[in-house]
Amino acid sequence: MALIDLGPLTESSHTRYAIHLSNGKRLVLFRLPRIASSESRPMAPNETEDGWIYYAMEAECPHAGGPMTEAHVDIEDSAYVASCPWHAYDFNVETGESSYGIKTCTFPVIVQHGKVSLKIATKENVELSRLEPVSDQVKFKHGPRETAAESPVYLDDNATMCEWCVHILKTSNPEHKIELTTHLFSLFATKEQSPSPMRLGIGVIAPDEPVREEQSKVEPWQIPKAGKGGTLKSRIAMLHALANIEQWAIDLAIDICVRFATFHTMAPSQDLSRELPRTFYYDWLKVANDEAKHFSLLRARLEELGSHFGALPVHHGLWESAAMTAHDLRARISIIALVHEARGLDVNPMTIEKFRKANDMESVDSLNVIHNDEITHVTTGHRWLTWICEQEHTDPVHVFRSNVQRYFKGAVKGPFNAEARAQAGMDKRYYEGLGGHSSKANIIAGG
Ligand code: FES
Repeated sequence: MALIDLGPLTESSHTRYAIHLSNGKRLVLFRLPRIASSESRPMAPNETEDGWIYYAMEAECPHAGGPMTEAHVDIEDSAYVASCPWHAYDFNVETGESSYGIKTCTFPVIVQHGKVSLKIATKENVELSRLEPVSDQVKFKHGPRETAAESPVYLDDNATMCEWCVHILKTSNPEHKIELTTHLFSLFATKEQSPSPMRLGIGVIAPDEPVREEQSKVEPWQIPKAGKGGTLKSRIAMLHALANIEQWAIDLAIDICVRFATFHTMAPSQDLSRELPRTFYYDWLKVANDEAKHFSLLRARLEELGSHFGALPVHHGLWESAAMTAHDLRARISIIALVHEARGLDVNPMTIEKFRKANDMESVDSLNVIHNDEITHVTTGHRWLTWICEQEHTDPVHVFRSNVQRYFKGAVKGPFNAEARAQAGMDKRYYEGLGGHSSKANIIAGG
């Protein structure tokens, strides 16, 4: 049995870590608040005096290798359960058992004298190679809720996916919106593997525009220049602008699920026309869930810097592109995912560099999480445009470029982050020498 010292983690504010061991094994360590119980019980060996409990399990899901570092953690029957982000198999973090009949390995954790250690049954000489904090999924702003108005309204268990989406689009409070969005994704993903997956509820009408809280609204070109990040004021302005985009990005991903739920591919005959597979909805609800996480990270960072979301004026520019493409899923994916979000990939590294130069490493960490997620969002857009084009025997590059020419104002400007774009599936044929129709330039880096 090896006892591996993980160091004095009790001072840390992270709630999960990736553990890399010298024998190549990877584990995930969860740090979770003690579950309140009416019965008094002695402190467990993996518990700290200030009410945190540590659990360790294999970092790779035993089903098909999904990353358990990104698991959703919920409480079920007074126990913590981590659900794999890929197919939502649930694992009790203490026993490793899943309701799907498989089991993952869990490892005893001991907290002693402010240090956390891990017990591994091995005869080898195993050491800790690296311990990496993993960014939290969503930074909720939960404090004690004193009135019902402070809690979001949850739909009942039979609500369909489209009903949930409309409900989220009509939820103006951003805190409620992120809580409902993460709940919807978790519910949809979990039910997907059950005998009764969530009903889609096709036919529900999406609102023209999401409801927003009263906030000073201006046109995109009226937003004051944020500057180069050298001052606190400038960094706050940049984070505020990004948080605004992320809030719209939640709505855009939710909107695509409900607005296009009746979509069918065009085919020479009706029996060859295809509806969207359920994985389409899973993918976009996952994007919405990521955007909720991004908004929460930026909102939390604004507060750490002494400001808050809503302190500065915002624009609704991203929704103009949504309105212009509300009639066609191919156009919607082209403009929102493959122009605006892809533009985000180009500008993110420059933004991150400004924060690094200002030595604001907490913001750099959040922005890195956002950038890496956004590559996967462009991938999602590229994958679904390609899928539609395959069904319709069309060329996705041609479909994309003609949509940009029709529905995008101004030039698709570089410099391009060719590496990140290529990771997402967009080679240069998509964007080189491309411009929209002539009008006022309207480039908005997307969330
Ligand atoms: S890979 Fe984890 S549930 Fe499939």
